[in-house]
Amino acid sequence: MDTKALWNLSYGVYVVSTVDVDHENRPTGCIANSAMQVTYDTIAVSINHENYTNQCIKKSKKFALSILGEKVDDNIIPVFGFQSGREIDKFEGVKTEKVNGLDVVADSTGYIVCDVDDILETETHTVFLGKITDCGLLKDEPVMTYEYYHRVKKGKSPKTAPTYIEETATEEGLAYKCTICGYIYKGDLTKEPDDYVCPLCKQPKSVFVKL
Ligand SMILES: Cc1cc2nc3c(=O)[nH]c(=O)nc-3n(C[C@H](O)[C@H](O)[C@H](O)COP(=O)(O)O)c2cc1C
Repeated sequence: MDTKALWNLSYGVYVVSTVDVDHENRPTGCIANSAMQVTYDTIAVSINHENYTNQCIKKSKKFALSILGEKVDDNIIPVFGFQSGREIDKFEGVKTEKVNGLDVVADSTGYIVCDVDDILETETHTVFLGKITDCGLLKDEPVMTYEYYHRVKKGKSPKTAPTYIEETATEEGLAYKCTICGYIYKGDLTKEPDDYVCPLCKQPKSVFVKL
């Protein structure tokens, strides 16, 4: 089996938002690439059991996809893709539009809002099937593909992403790995200033381990 074939699948990059009914209905959500249209009015999205967004969608029974563009604000993916709504209010300071009671990211190319119609449990992820209740366009900009995220933005995926692939330093020399997002720093991290933060997940130097 050559798992590299899986890398040839195409995806977009989305903020999957919902409401946190246990915290005064505040908005929360995470980054997902594993979303697709499965019928003319149904979207499927796969969310890891460990992600807080999973339990929030199960309670609220609705979710929205904000379809990110290539020029999306640099903070959106680190905050929504590498931190948890258990610990922080991810939408604080994020400009949103309210659609059917859900917050969608204003700095996105468009949105699709769904009511959960059915779920499918796998060992690690819940696949939510959502009936589209509204959708619309926001910014006119090329959409960010998962391939663009990796190739141009040099982005990584955390272990909870279905498409996660373990990365190790293969080149000779010093390297450090961010234990939060998996980012590999090549070189001597000790020479970076004390306030150095991981360029992807914005966590401090202390979360890096030497490889
Ligand atoms: C590019 C990218 C793609 C991701 N795709 C998925 C996905 O499809 N499904 C998923 O469950 N998590 C995915 N993740 C991981 C979640 O966004 C991440 O674990 C997040 O911190 C969960 O936040 P939460 O605990 O607030 O739900 C992805 C992350 C990145 C950066």
